[in-house]
Amino acid sequence: MINQHKIAKTLIKVVKKSRDRCYAPYSKIQVSAGVYCGNGKIYTGVNIENSSYSLTMCAERTAIYRAYLEGEKKFLLMLLWSPQVDFITPCGACLQVLSELAPDIVIATMNSSEEFRFYPLSALIKKPFRM
Ligand code: THU
Repeated sequence: MINQHKIAKTLIKVVKKSRDRCYAPYSKIQVSAGVYCGNGKIYTGVNIENSSYSLTMCAERTAIYRAYLEGEKKFLLMLLWSPQVDFITPCGACLQVLSELAPDIVIATMNSSEEFRFYPLSALIKKPFRM
């Protein structure tokens, strides 16, 4: 068993630091994600919006794609944080992507007081699409 609380605490600093990299001029909702891999490496992601709204990329996918590009295959935990939305959870598109690349990941989400809630990905998406 991983120590969820300990890993989530480790990620607080990086998700807070990455907040400035969010590009959210339309919704004004900033989302920052940090993914902790099996080898201890950490990758961050932020939401990057677009004037053609549907092209917006969420923080979760930015983070997991960055990690995947670097060759990571084992993902232990992803911490999410939004200064505007306490305990933010991934959208359906992100859940689908995570279920493919990181089916065993734990999602940790945080409020402004740095309290956590933990969800195994499988609790957030019951029946991902599969081919
Ligand atoms: N967003 C994320 O980055 N992750 C989520 O889990 C939910 C939503 C972003 C997309 C958009 O830039 C803004 O939050 C409002 O929907």
